[in-house]
Amino acid sequence: MRPQGSPYRKAVMAAPIRFRGVPRRSRFLVYAVFCIILITLLPRFHLHLGGTLLFFLISPEAAGPYKGGHSADILKYVDPLIGTANGGHVFPGASLPYGMAKAVADTNSRAENAAGFVSDDAPITGFSHMHDSGTGGQPSLGNFPLFVHPGCPDDEFSKCKFTVMDRPLQRVPDTPFAAPGYFTLNLTNSLKAEMTVTEHTALYRFSFPGNETLNIVDDEDHSKVTQVPYSPLILIDLIDLMNSRSAGGIQVYPESGRVIGDGSYAPSFGSGKYSAFFCADFKGAKIRKTGTFVNTNATEGLNHLDKQGSGFYNPTGSAGAWLHFERPASNAITVRVGVSFISVDKACANAENEIPDWNFERVESQARKAWSEKLSAIEVDPYGVSGDMLTTFWSGLYRTMLSPQNYTGENQLWNSTEPYFDSFYCIWDSFRAQHPLLTIIDPVAQTDMVRALIDIYRHEGKLPDCRMSFCKGFTQGGSNADIVIADAFVKNLTAGIDWDTAYEAVISDAEEEPSMWGTSGRGNLESWHHLGYIPWDDTDRNGTGPASRSISRGVEYAYDDFCISLLASGLSRPAPEVSKYRQRGANWANYWNPTQKDLFRSAPDGPVSSTKFLGFMQPRTVNGTFRYQNTRSCSPIHNMHSCYYDTGLETYEGSPWLYSFFVPQDMQSLIKLMGGPAEFVERLTYFHTSGISYMGNEQGFLPVYQFHYASRPGLSSYFAHSYFPSLFNSTVNGIPGNDDCAMGAFSAFAMMGFFPVAGQDVYLLSAPFFREVKLRAKMPGKWAVIKVKNFDPEWKRLYIQSAKLNGKRYTKSWITHEFFLKGGVLELVVGEKESDEWGAREEDLPPSYPVPEGERVAPDEEYRSKLVSGHVP
Ligand SMILES: *[C@@H]1O[C@H](CO)[C@@H](O)[C@H](O)[C@H]1NC(C)=O
Ligand SMILES: *[C@@H]1O[C@H](CO)[C@@H](O)[C@H](O)[C@H]1NC(C)=O
Ligand SMILES: *[C@@H]1O[C@H](CO)[C@@H](O)[C@H](O)[C@H]1NC(C)=O
Ligand SMILES: *[C@@H]1O[C@H](CO)[C@@H](O)[C@H](O)[C@H]1NC(C)=O
Ligand SMILES: *[C@@H]1O[C@H](CO)[C@@H](O)[C@H](O)[C@H]1NC(C)=O
Ligand SMILES: *[C@@H]1O[C@H](CO)[C@@H](O)[C@H](O)[C@H]1NC(C)=O
Ligand SMILES: *[C@@H]1O[C@H](CO)[C@@H](O)[C@H](O)[C@H]1NC(C)=O
Ligand SMILES: *[C@@H]1O[C@H](CO)[C@@H](O)[C@H](O)[C@H]1NC(C)=O
Ligand SMILES: *[C@@H]1O[C@H](CO)[C@@H](O)[C@H](O)[C@H]1NC(C)=O
Repeated sequence: MRPQGSPYRKAVMAAPIRFRGVPRRSRFLVYAVFCIILITLLPRFHLHLGGTLLFFLISPEAAGPYKGGHSADILKYVDPLIGTANGGHVFPGASLPYGMAKAVADTNSRAENAAGFVSDDAPITGFSHMHDSGTGGQPSLGNFPLFVHPGCPDDEFSKCKFTVMDRPLQRVPDTPFAAPGYFTLNLTNSLKAEMTVTEHTALYRFSFPGNETLNIVDDEDHSKVTQVPYSPLILIDLIDLMNSRSAGGIQVYPESGRVIGDGSYAPSFGSGKYSAFFCADFKGAKIRKTGTFVNTNATEGLNHLDKQGSGFYNPTGSAGAWLHFERPASNAITVRVGVSFISVDKACANAENEIPDWNFERVESQARKAWSEKLSAIEVDPYGVSGDMLTTFWSGLYRTMLSPQNYTGENQLWNSTEPYFDSFYCIWDSFRAQHPLLTIIDPVAQTDMVRALIDIYRHEGKLPDCRMSFCKGFTQGGSNADIVIADAFVKNLTAGIDWDTAYEAVISDAEEEPSMWGTSGRGNLESWHHLGYIPWDDTDRNGTGPASRSISRGVEYAYDDFCISLLASGLSRPAPEVSKYRQRGANWANYWNPTQKDLFRSAPDGPVSSTKFLGFMQPRTVNGTFRYQNTRSCSPIHNMHSCYYDTGLETYEGSPWLYSFFVPQDMQSLIKLMGGPAEFVERLTYFHTSGISYMGNEQGFLPVYQFHYASRPGLSSYFAHSYFPSLFNSTVNGIPGNDDCAMGAFSAFAMMGFFPVAGQDVYLLSAPFFREVKLRAKMPGKWAVIKVKNFDPEWKRLYIQSAKLNGKRYTKSWITHEFFLKGGVLELVVGEKESDEWGAREEDLPPSYPVPEGERVAPDEEYRSKLVSGHVP
């Protein structure tokens, strides 16, 4: 014990000594009163608010035309549990928008608990305060879990279970419930756990049934019942979800009950280490005993474990502190856990500043208010839309604002006046739909995120591609922050963005290869510059990284460079600079093998057959010849799981079929290579109907809408509708893959009737799933309104026939961001048959930027011959 001179001393001085009872909240009473008021007011609702969500639920027919306006209760359409099974990896716990504190019950579900909780039947290991949402990889964060025993066998603290291996218990079926800012469940030890949060603090309320003795039913052998006296023991473990702790310490103060501690941990999909700190206070019961534990060995009165201190020989695994309480006066103990990435003092200050009153209801209602405010940027007319689809829609929007997380003021790496956001996890996933959606519905947050990206460049020398917990994550493809930055520029996000540094940052991606390009920037850049592609057999002297994925990295580098050209041109850089990146943007064509057939076997031992489609993106060697990668590999119908970060193939998490469509900068040239619009449409239709497309990953999004480029926007609308509700719905399984805070952005866009071509000022139009959609415009007081004439809630009339923008005939199949900046009215008339006029003429197609053959990057033959001869330049 070394409280004197310990870094924890200041924290203990400030600790509150408050252990009086907390009045029990009666949630039911509040609801009952609310319902009575509602029923009384219903006739007036009809008169004044006919058409609000609430009213429609009761009587869709009787409602008048939609007049806009939010139902105060829109949050009831947010179900945070969507995507907590089936690989969605959604965080369903209590969080504020972009909040750092994210409290939930953690399960020990292998390979599924990336965000802590999973809707399965795995036992609960504890309640922890920080998480990521929707990610793949290892589970993130989950540091310092609490675990609660209502009593210990024979009233002996040492007979309670302490370690993460021993203590897990089943949830009571059907008790998990989540709402924005709130999460609850019961454990089979009779505990009811509830949690809510502020920005950096989690507040837990642990309630007990109040019996003198409690029956603890054994999870495995239900006939085995242990009786324990009611005398709760709460422990706090220094472990994190992926058991990565490499150092740490903990201190419990027996008088106040305050527990403070820290640890050093690893990021879940990257390299490096980060430190985390907490400060926990308890209220509601008198303390009997305190102590610490290291693995299964719990010691009373040993109140301090330190990195080097006595009794802490095993720094990894479960170790922590515990408090044994008397029976709580009001059968509940409240625990307030402040977290910080700076220090324990900061963690304590966060807790004290954010929750001085220990008022669970206030904290919860403030969280609800924060979410309602964020969601008030959008309104939809619920006419004819099922509750399930409304829930799919609003929950998707909600998930889009879980991460990146606002760690401003908590940056442990550098001091800066710029905002700091973390959990860009990963931009490869999020650039396509999530960031474009935030740009419309929360431009202030998106601007802060862009500024944070630029500040990361300033301090670390490169923009991140994937980032979590202050560490560099693994780069999946290109340097796609370049696209996020270009997207922000073309959409007029300006406030406080230092565009000169932003430009410097993207040029650094394009020009300077870092020595470790697996975690930032790009690899094989010398060949990219000299040959215009990444050779399969390249010799890269400038840096190291997983030298796979030459096709997918190549088509992404090309689009990154194209987006840099848009930024260069917008910033009025010299013309040669603009055209240099425009030309490199055409490098995708170097992967096009015009004679590549689509070969496959219908049965494992059957004969090889092929479709009619000729020409695919294929790997290329240094000498220019093509190699072969099966066009379907890494699609759901062929070797789905053979294209990850470390699995040598030439495409990443997708097939050559898929990557052969990734040319957002020049679909016209691609369509020509594919044999013209009719052939292209046939090919894209085959892609969506053959099982090769996979909507569970973000690259699947844009191909839904690429029919637009071949004059067939109706088909985009058709396929967008076809994935609802079969792949996107309101069940716990209702997301086809890892959410990545991006799947919900796709469902929201698809349902609102437009989809962004990220990096460009282009939104492709399709038939909305609502009769009317309103989005708050950037210009104060204005709204961007999309109205559907002839709206069909059954989706039979899902083809746009004609359109009017602000009263004028509008024949283009796409709109620009000006609509969301200034507001306006877009009227769409829908019908049952695909229109052969609207969006069909060449001048109505979304833009393509062809680079004439003669102006493309000419391969540097001298460089090539040196590479071929092994005389590496
Ligand atoms: C959950 O736990 C609380 C507190 O022990 C108890 O009152 C309630 O009945 C439990 N609910 C269920 C469904 O077990
Ligand atoms: C608490 O006591 C009630 C009434 O005796 C009993 O029905 C219930 O099962 C007990 N609960 C627990 C968790 O032991
Ligand atoms: C448990 O920890 C205490 C305190 O460090 C130590 O004295 C004791 O030897 C340990 N017991 C076992 C069985 O490891
Ligand atoms: C930030 O500034 C504070 C106060 O000057 C200092 O204590 C801290 O070490 C700085 N942090 C970093 C990461 O430089
Ligand atoms: C991020 O957090 C900082 C500090 O708490 C706050 O000032 C800022 O408004 C937050 N940004 C957003 C977009 O919420
Ligand atoms: C590769 O390294 C060489 C030698 O240090 C350097 O001149 C060149 O600029 C580097 N190329 C890139 C693309 O970073
Ligand atoms: C090109 O390189 C590949 C791979 O090294 C080799 O198999 C092929 O024979 C070479 N072709 C020519 C024409 O040199
Ligand atoms: C909901 O979506 C999931 C995941 O995409 C899918 O597996 C499931 O079948 C869908 N459920 C319904 C009812 O359509
Ligand atoms: C976007 O910004 C540009 C350059 O600052 C300006 O010319 C243009 O008017 C802005 N557009 C809108 C719709 O605000």
